[in-house]
Amino acid sequence: MLRTALALSTLAFALAAAGTVAAASPQFNYILHCQGCHLADGAATPGTIPPLIGTGRFLAVDGGREFLVRVPGVSLSIIPDDELAELMNWMLYRFSADDMPVDFEPYTAEEVVRYRQEPLVEVEAVRVGLFGAYEDAPEDQGQQ
Ligand code: HEC
Repeated sequence: MLRTALALSTLAFALAAAGTVAAASPQFNYILHCQGCHLADGAATPGTIPPLIGTGRFLAVDGGREFLVRVPGVSLSIIPDDELAELMNWMLYRFSADDMPVDFEPYTAEEVVRYRQEPLVEVEAVRVGLFGAYEDAPEDQGQQ
């Protein structure tokens, strides 16, 4: 764990020093905290990780907006609330621009605080509940 943390902070320093991405930008946070599992392009890893491509469609379902923040990889991340709100907005437009509702209101830090205080434990059960509410939800490629 310690070695991983050291490697990550070295990477963070190297990226910031190289000026490739600004420290704490949404893209920076994504690379550091999400990309290891969700890949650079948000694609699924079948059998393990669901795609981020298409996640905008959760916004059309009751409870979907909360769900996207309450999944453990998001709610329990060490990213500060304001940066996490920015990251969610970035993630949605980056990987799911075509699925965004026209009336989408960006996540705010205040909202993210509320959702992440209740991290999901039974992720799959909640996700299945959302599917029931929206038959054309993203393919569940990662949870079989
Ligand atoms: C250790 C691997 C891992 C990391 C790191 C991770 N995730 Fe995930 N993510 C998952 C898995 C696995 C799921 C499926 C739900 C579950 O079992 O937690 C998921 C689900 C999601 C979902 C819901 C998608 C769906 O269709 O259910 C979103 C949105 C998401 N992650 C975003 C992020 C973001 C943003 C970050 C970085 C802050 C992140 N994740 C970090 C593994 C990870």
